[in-house]
Amino acid sequence: MKISTNKNSIEKIDQKFCRLVITEDKPNVHRLVETKDNRLEYRLGAGKFSKMTARKFRLFTRSIIQATKSHQLENLAIDINAIPFPKTDYEASWNLSTLVENLILADYTFTKYKSSTKEDPVIKEILLCGNLSKADTVGLKRGIIVAESTNLARDIANTTADDLTPDLLAKVAKKALLGTNVKLSVLDKKAIKQAKMGLLEAVGKGSHNDPRFIIMEYYGAGKPTKDNKGKTKQPVILIGKGITFDTGGLNVKPSGYMHDMHLDMSGGSSVIGTMVAVAKLKLKQNIVALIPAAENAVSDKAMRAGDIVTAMNGKTVEILHTDAEGRLVLADALTYSERFKPRAIIDVATLTGAALVALGQYASAIMTKDEKLQTTLQNLGEQSGDYVWPLPLWSEYQSGLKSHRADYSNIDKNFSRYAGSIEGGTFLSFFAPKNVPWAHIDIAPRMDSVAHDKLTKGSAGEPVRLLVSYLEQA
Ligand code: BES
Ligand code: MN
Ligand code: ZN
Repeated sequence: MKISTNKNSIEKIDQKFCRLVITEDKPNVHRLVETKDNRLEYRLGAGKFSKMTARKFRLFTRSIIQATKSHQLENLAIDINAIPFPKTDYEASWNLSTLVENLILADYTFTKYKSSTKEDPVIKEILLCGNLSKADTVGLKRGIIVAESTNLARDIANTTADDLTPDLLAKVAKKALLGTNVKLSVLDKKAIKQAKMGLLEAVGKGSHNDPRFIIMEYYGAGKPTKDNKGKTKQPVILIGKGITFDTGGLNVKPSGYMHDMHLDMSGGSSVIGTMVAVAKLKLKQNIVALIPAAENAVSDKAMRAGDIVTAMNGKTVEILHTDAEGRLVLADALTYSERFKPRAIIDVATLTGAALVALGQYASAIMTKDEKLQTTLQNLGEQSGDYVWPLPLWSEYQSGLKSHRADYSNIDKNFSRYAGSIEGGTFLSFFAPKNVPWAHIDIAPRMDSVAHDKLTKGSAGEPVRLLVSYLEQA
């Protein structure tokens, strides 16, 4: 789908375009009509314009694509001046950015494993008619970059585990970053061992698809040098969970809970998408992204429940449950991040089913001790569409993770199932560098799209939009 612009009024454009007329009918009320001048006109309800909100606007925008496809229309023209943008206090570029973002996100389909797509409706072109302000032009360009990077993250996440092993994930990242200013380096199994990342090694050792540790560095503010103590040059660190398949390990997952687990690297794919976006947007920020990648497999070489493993920071961890693997690989990534002297750290991970129990599938869970970071991310979530909602990281929750046999256990030592997401976040807090603002985002609730999203089934590419928005202002 091509998105193009035309200064002319919508009345004057090529006959091949069907014209979109946005009405105040209820959302989803739509009809195709032929006008007196023999043109096709497509009327689509958006609800009362005065009641439009950012949340509703994104869904309305997506409904344009759904409706256009349902009528097999190939070319659609939209009058920019007739779009009911919500009244917000966001930057002026938000309107066009959000419009094109959601058009492109809604147009995305994943067909890699379909033998034929001949029957699928295809939108060739969407033409935006009318004069664009400067901010509109900025927003348009931004929206395309953000949406395409999000769709890239979706492509990666949706790929099956055979086609996306830790090694292949590193290669996909490399390919995605070609031609950008992002430097990629990869630690293989031997280097992971040498770096003493015992937890990542343990999670990966059950699979013949060896683990990898992927490092992506972007210095848009100039590389921090040794004698330079300028604080702003210190990088923001992103960490994305990269479990390319999660069987649960020897504590194997029951059927019905395993088939989606090729999506367990969604944190990783979203940080790859984010790095592509920040490089294309030429953000003047220093950002380092880390992906601990491993396959959590069942085999005689797999880590066992009851094993005790030494983490990169020297602490010992009793593995009480092999399915709580995400927190293990992230813990070593948090330790690794220290060498960059980060000024903030955000990790994103499909960490717990408990996050779905708490929030359903409409928001990710955010856990941080930094109130400012929490507020910022919550507000930017609302602005970007990647909603996050807080859970506490109070010290009360720590005692359950103090093992009898080692320093920590990876789940509650009494196998309590309460507060599972907070338990995951608390475990990570033991490894997060001290005195650095850090937020953990459990994106398990948003790993898979739901009908309400008006997106194709599978990965929604969250939270690329949120991370980009954060980095733009960080
Ligand atoms: N990847 C899963 C979490 C998950 C579950 C993500 C469902 C998306 C949808 C994670 O590795 C896991 O297995 N977590 C366990 C933790 C438990 C053993 C403490 C879980 O949620 O059951
Ligand atoms: Mn697991
Ligand atoms: Zn997992």
